[in-house]
Amino acid sequence: MKIDFLNKLKTRAQSKIPSIGQVPTRPGQDSISSQGSLPTPTIPPIKSVSFSSETSVQDIIAPSAIEVDFDELKINNRYTRTLFVAGYPRYVSANWLSPLINYEHSLEISLFVYPVESKNVLDDLRRKIAEMEAEIATDIERGRVVDPATQAKLEDAQVMQEQLVKGIERFFQFGLYITIPAETLEELNEVSRGVESTLASLLIIPKHATLQMEEGFKTTLPTCLDYLSITRNMDTTSLATTFPFASSELTANEGILYGINEHNGSLIVFDRFTLENYNACVFAKAGAGKSFLVKLEVLRSLMFDAEIIIIDPENEYENLCRAVGGEYITFGFNSQAKINPFDLSQVIEEEENELNQKMLSLHSLFKVIMGNLSPTEEAILDRALMMTYQAKGISQDPKTQIKEPPLMEDLYKTLLGMEDPQSRLLADRIEKFVKGSFVGIFDQYSNVNIRNSFTVFSLRDLEATLRPIAMFIILDFIWTRIRKELKKRILVVDEAWFMMQNPDSASFLNSIAKRARKYYLGLTTITQDVGDFLRNDLGKAIVTNSSIQILMKQHPAAIEEVSQTFYLSEGEKQFLLACDIGEGLFFAGNNHVAMKVIASSQEHQLVTSKPEEVLAQKKAQMAKEEIPAPPKEQPTIIQKPSPVPELTHPQPLSQTSVPLQTVVEEIISKPVEKTSPLPTPQTNFPPLSTKEEPVPTPAATTLPPRFKSEIIMDNGSTNS
Ligand SMILES: Nc1ncnc2c1ncn2[C@@H]1O[C@H](COP(=O)(O)OP(=O)(O)O)[C@@H](O)[C@H]1O
Ligand SMILES: [Mg+2]
Repeated sequence: MKIDFLNKLKTRAQSKIPSIGQVPTRPGQDSISSQGSLPTPTIPPIKSVSFSSETSVQDIIAPSAIEVDFDELKINNRYTRTLFVAGYPRYVSANWLSPLINYEHSLEISLFVYPVESKNVLDDLRRKIAEMEAEIATDIERGRVVDPATQAKLEDAQVMQEQLVKGIERFFQFGLYITIPAETLEELNEVSRGVESTLASLLIIPKHATLQMEEGFKTTLPTCLDYLSITRNMDTTSLATTFPFASSELTANEGILYGINEHNGSLIVFDRFTLENYNACVFAKAGAGKSFLVKLEVLRSLMFDAEIIIIDPENEYENLCRAVGGEYITFGFNSQAKINPFDLSQVIEEEENELNQKMLSLHSLFKVIMGNLSPTEEAILDRALMMTYQAKGISQDPKTQIKEPPLMEDLYKTLLGMEDPQSRLLADRIEKFVKGSFVGIFDQYSNVNIRNSFTVFSLRDLEATLRPIAMFIILDFIWTRIRKELKKRILVVDEAWFMMQNPDSASFLNSIAKRARKYYLGLTTITQDVGDFLRNDLGKAIVTNSSIQILMKQHPAAIEEVSQTFYLSEGEKQFLLACDIGEGLFFAGNNHVAMKVIASSQEHQLVTSKPEEVLAQKKAQMAKEEIPAPPKEQPTIIQKPSPVPELTHPQPLSQTSVPLQTVVEEIISKPVEKTSPLPTPQTNFPPLSTKEEPVPTPAATTLPPRFKSEIIMDNGSTNS
């Protein structure tokens, strides 16, 4: 019965579908094309296929069977169904097709646009208008009420006529076809229902291309051949609103994954080093997932050879740092790490006088330390700084700048030695760093360096009043070191609002943001005090100097500031108030998309800072260590930072414990690196005889299935 029908269908289809190389004709096309308007699709002639004993390319790529039915097509084991659009809404807004384009099941959508000569349409219109006017005139003559529908149509037609004559609008015919692919008939029916109701919600009337499934399928192939020819008139404006590529996509060919695009489920893959500057800023209220996102970013950036430097005030990056074999440097009264704020880079640069730069940043630093300075006090400080450097033999001459730099104590002594009574007062203000409560952190020669690909400077042991100062000094130190050697780097300043509290440190951060590009540096500023940050002009300047801006969940008190700074729409504002942890808006250049940050489970373990998760991890680790541990071994939870002598030794990433690759590239690199021979068929199965010693597990049997199949494909044969 079915075959019978198929035969009939085939003859029917044959009569309709042109053979290869022949152009399909559209119904009614003759009349239109005789008026010289419709371009006919042309396909290049294909060489006739001659059959020989050899297998041709067509044989290989062709499906083994195609079953054409009333309402679907079965190609091998896959089903397809084609819908065409029979009716369109009267009014549409821009991007009205987006629910269809972004439909969650893959669809093949073809849009056909045929330009029509305005002259023909005008002739038709003139006739129609004449008819309608006559109808209205007759109604009036006979004393009848004029039909309002005719009146409306007449007005529409007159407007159309006017616009066509003036050339404001042009005329087109438009065809829209959708082919739904599915694995099973049930799935096909279900998805069809979904698509139809989506279209119905757009006031589009879809119809199944019943008995024309083959034509429908061919029409939605990317060959630009319309075998169905079901079109409708459209003017330019209506046609423009159907433009399908209106959803924001931020998928680049290279870069790292930032998250999932919430508009259409695509991936946000992006390389910040391709933008005009490499800076990023992240704003959200506490706990919204800022640090989580940035940790993921730096972890993934490591794969692209970026060097990572992090200033970590909240002790959040330690786990990650240990896991990737990075260097974790803590500053505190008992820690060994020291930084001397008077350090010079010891690199002679042609156009920059480093001492001058240093003097500027030291001025800012001492203003942060001492509070506001009067002009007289500033002058004294300037003189004292110069004298301190001079006492060490360092002057404007770059050659002298490689000598040993002075220390805080030298400045203190210089200030004491000056005759001005005010200098004594200044000396008092830095006394706490030399012999008071802050002694031992920033008053000795630097003994840390940035040699690791992942370096974290932790401020957790410092009290709150000292943090902005410490951040300043560390940033200045990093900035000095960065300029020594050009390298792709990302510098993360978490809780950057510490720097914003004081105009001098804020201005220093801004100057780094402005000049970072020159040194191949991407500065990431993270802040939760969004309102304060954006109210500050320097904060705004940092935002303007960042190509990537990420906004996550906002506090209602800060939303106005945020929406003014970033020109948010009302919808985006509501999104930022209501979104979940890990969700936000991603701005890169002119694009913005809503994004959801996702991490693999291994990544999540490394980057989470949720107390309960961290505690569970620690417990698990302790349990692991306790089982094989020799008696009475101390159950270390986290390794303390290395003491001074070790700090001065380079620790290349690859030599330290668990390198990053094991975490991120585990799945990718391990199986490929295995040099053991490919499994032979019998090694994949347990041996039948039991006499042998336990069979060593062959490398490939432990691989995830997808690598197995890769190996099989490389091999050119299956082993099952
Ligand atoms: N995208 C996410 N997916 C899953 N959990 C997340 C995500 N973002 C944040 N979290 C959870 O929320 C916690 C707080 O996030 P965090 O980034 O530390 O907040 P903050 O914005 O204050 O820096 C994280 O430790 C993590 O457990
Ligand atoms: Mg944080």
